[in-house]
Amino acid sequence: MILVTGGAGFIGTHACVELMQAGYEVVVVDNLVNSHEKSLDRVAMITGKRPLFFKVDVCDEKALNQVFDQCDIEGVIHFAGLKAVGESVQKPLEYYQNNLDADFVLCKVMKAHGVKNLVFSSSATVYSGDNEMPLNESSKTGNCTNPYGWTKYMGEQIFKGLCVADPELSIVLLRYFNPVGAHESGLIGEDPQGIPNNLMPYVSQVAIGKRDHLTVFGDDYDTPDGTGVRDYIHVVDLAKAHVLAVRYAAEHKGCEIFNIGTGNGSSVLDMVHAFEKASGKKVPYVVGPRRAGDLATVYAGTEKARKELGFVAQYDLERMCADSWRWQSMNPNGFEN
Ligand code: NAD
Ligand code: WQD
Repeated sequence: MILVTGGAGFIGTHACVELMQAGYEVVVVDNLVNSHEKSLDRVAMITGKRPLFFKVDVCDEKALNQVFDQCDIEGVIHFAGLKAVGESVQKPLEYYQNNLDADFVLCKVMKAHGVKNLVFSSSATVYSGDNEMPLNESSKTGNCTNPYGWTKYMGEQIFKGLCVADPELSIVLLRYFNPVGAHESGLIGEDPQGIPNNLMPYVSQVAIGKRDHLTVFGDDYDTPDGTGVRDYIHVVDLAKAHVLAVRYAAEHKGCEIFNIGTGNGSSVLDMVHAFEKASGKKVPYVVGPRRAGDLATVYAGTEKARKELGFVAQYDLERMCADSWRWQSMNPNGFEN
């Protein structure tokens, strides 16, 4: 059985679907601080089975121990964490405490139960801003611009250290680029609370009429159209990479890092136009100032994941936008009603 922490969230629900469809039994632990339990009913509608669920905070060692006592856990995917970059600047203590305590407690409880295999949600945000593109796994890390990024950077250091101390451990650090899109069923997808921080959910709320217009954060970057370029990856591709990583962890010892992206860069305006095409709706925008901490261009080197993990992203921008739009238009209020 695979334990999925944060399994009720955006990427976690998609990973549950792919794991279950690949034949794994899944148990989810989530405190629902940024998700709804209903998302797991939707997973059940897709897969025919609801994952076992415990409403537990990963930082609660006693409660997490009880989950491990009750379930025969062979490996863990650790998604649980707070992820809003701007909020992390306002509430650094909450971010350091939640994200790092979750790492510590999970590792302690895994150790107590002899569980050796872990896949961790890291982020392209751990890369330093002064690298050449594409970023590869040995590009420089650090110089994070916000507490959220530091929690991922520190998480990586903790997991690397544990693998040095215990050669029987197997930890895969996946550095995600920009996950977008939704399951093709339209039943699960990203459900941000309040004003979306990220581009795609914002664009999709403009298209459905919830927000008047998008603000493009700067059009004077050194990129083809002047707007920021990122490596957007379909969340179902990303979820599939987790199934590969679980298998990889079962067969290799030590700590290994993989970028999970497509290797392609798209600009903010590319995304706006692709979304307009997929939805048939206008996405009005105004150009505003640059957002602090943003880089002009970020995209992944994907060779290592292809060669060693066997991962290649399948879905293009058109499909990412079509699936996002299906989710948004079928669920204008997310999982609420
Ligand atoms: P999400 O907020 O939808 O999912 C995270 C889940 O973790 C939520 O369901 C939340 O309720 C839960 N959670 C948070 N703290 C918890 C705790 N202490 N105990 C139990 N549950 C807790 O976010 P997501 O987009 O699905 O991201 C999943 C992971 O991937 C996160 O660690 C995030 O930092 C990382 N990541 C996300 C992105 C992205 O752009 N979405 C990019 C890189 C990395
Ligand atoms: C994408 C592009 C913006 C919103 C963030 C985190 C990163 C990772 C993924 C977790 C940029 C532009 C955005 C808007 C805009 N998360 N934009 N108007 O910043 O690449 O990465 O999410 O690990 O850590 O930093 O993603 O979606 O916020 O921005 O013009 O309203 O869209 O400037 O060029 P980002 P994003």
